[in-house]
Formats: sequence, structure tokens, C-alpha cells
Amino acid sequence: MTRLHGRVALVTGAGGGIGRAIAERFAGEGAHVCVTDVDGSTAESVAEGILGTDGAASWAKVDVTAAEDVASVLSQLSSTHGRLDILVNNAGLNVRADFRHLTDEQWETIRGTNLDGVVRLSRDAFDLLKVSGNAAIVNLSSIMASRSTRQLAGYCTTKGAISALSRSLAVEYAPFGIRVNFLCPGFIETALTARALRNPMIAEALINQTPLRRFGTPDDVARAALFLASDDAAFITGEGIAIDGGMGANL
Ligand SMILES: NC(=O)c1ccc[n+]([C@@H]2O[C@H](COP(=O)([O-])OP(=O)(O)OC[C@H]3O[C@@H](n4cnc5c(N)ncnc54)[C@H](O)[C@@H]3O)[C@@H](O)[C@H]2O)c1
Repeated sequence: MTRLHGRVALVTGAGGGIGRAIAERFAGEGAHVCVTDVDGSTAESVAEGILGTDGAASWAKVDVTAAEDVASVLSQLSSTHGRLDILVNNAGLNVRADFRHLTDEQWETIRGTNLDGVVRLSRDAFDLLKVSGNAAIVNLSSIMASRSTRQLAGYCTTKGAISALSRSLAVEYAPFGIRVNFLCPGFIETALTARALRNPMIAEALINQTPLRRFGTPDDVARAALFLASDDAAFITGEGIAIDGGMGANL
């Protein structure tokens, strides 16, 4: 369990769901994980849990839409470690709305967190990632980057942009020893999907579309994040991995 031994990782939106599973798995593999979330109390509790199992962690309240929060946590990492080896842009949310009724405020909320947050972190952490010489960015895109269903146009647009941004940054950052990849989860059981998956009709339809016939767990995604962040993926950049039980391959 030392695939990330001595590495310094920052995970956004790590107070719950997929981000929490990634933070815990990375710490279990020997990384120092800076656990961040817009909800500072959940970030603190995840970090405390890691410390309680002899892992290495710190925490910070970071709203990825707030430039000052991002600047503050990067400055904290700079003083403590002098570098960043792994950045996981996981924070994300969804606001369902028919596109013709999508308000400017709703669009700003979706875009601000899902896309602008990834842009800000990936840009502003560059100097610290460059110091690493062997760094990895893992971005949370979605199966919805290349598919859709009703009322998800805003969300799908941001996820498509994250996949495109990841490929562009892979090219631009490669000379600095920074790999950039992305994950495309299908339906994972978290707070984000709880409402839909609690509806028996929706749940049954989704399971029927999934060849592996179950929903994903946050740790299914964390295992793929670990692969992309580790040296096992040393020659992989600009690539996306679907973690969807085969849903994307199914007609
Ligand atoms: N659950 C799924 O089925 C699924 C599928 C595909 C992609 N994803 C993506 O995975 C990521 C994690 O999703 P999840 O299912 O764990 O969701 P979740 O709602 O369980 O957790 C999201 C976390 O992000 C935090 N967050 C929200 N806004 C934030 C902000 N502005 N700044 C910092 N943190 C913020 C929340 O407090 C929460 O802890 C998201 O980017 C999501 O789009 C999830």
C-alpha cells in the first residue's frame, strides 16, 4: 500500500462522496492528502479520520469558486511542502433545469463550480506542480460529457469542457512533467445521485442499461483515480477512463 508514498495530494470536494473515497484511498497508499471542501467541517472530519488510521492529512475550507480560498490553500501547501504532486479536481454539483428555462444564476452556479473551479486550480497550482517534476492532475468529468438526458444540458456542457480542457492541458503541461487525465464515472451512489437512484423506476432503467448490473461505488472511482495519479500511469496523459459498468458501451 505504498503506491503514493511521500506524495503530496490536494483533493477538492473531498468532504463526501467520490472525493472522500479518493482522499482516503490516496492516504492509504502513503500520500499526504490535503482534504478540501466548501464545507470545512466535512473536510476536517475526513482528515481526522485519515489521521486516526495513521495516515497523513491536512484540511482546508476551499470553495473552488473563491479565488482567495484557492490562493490560501496553495500558499499553505507551498510553505509546508514546497510542492504539489497530485491535484484531483473533484468538486462538482448539478442543478437540473429545462435548458430553455435555465436562469443566468443557475448556469453561473453549475459553470462556476464544475468548470471555473477546475480552470482556476489547474492554472494556479501550476508552479507547485512543476516543482514536483513528476506530477499528475486527475479531473472528474462524467459519462455525461458524451451523452445526455433531459434537464442536464448545463451539467453535460461543463463535463464536456472538462474532458476537452484535460486533453489541452495534457499537451501544454507535458514538458513540465505534469500528466493530465480525466475520469468519466457513470452512475455512482453518492449524495449527487441519491434522489434519482431512490426512484425505483429510474433505478431499474439505469441498472438495465448497465451490463455489470449495479451502480458504482465511490471507491470504484477512487481506484481509477489512484491508477492515473500513480506511476502505473507514467506514460498516460490526455486520456479519459470510463467507470460506468459498461453503460457507455451498451446500445
Ligand atoms: N455520483 C456520480 O454518479 C457521478 C458521475 C459522474 C461524475 N461525477 C462527478 O464526480 C464529482 C464528485 O461527485 P459526487 O457524486 O461525489 O458528489 P457529492 O455531491 O457526493 O460530493 C461533492 C462534494 O463537492 C463539494 N462541493 C460542492 N461545491 C463545491 C465548491 N464550490 N467548492 C468545493 N467543494 C464543493 C460538496 O460539499 C461535496 O462534498 C463531481 O465532479 C461529479 O460531477 C459524479
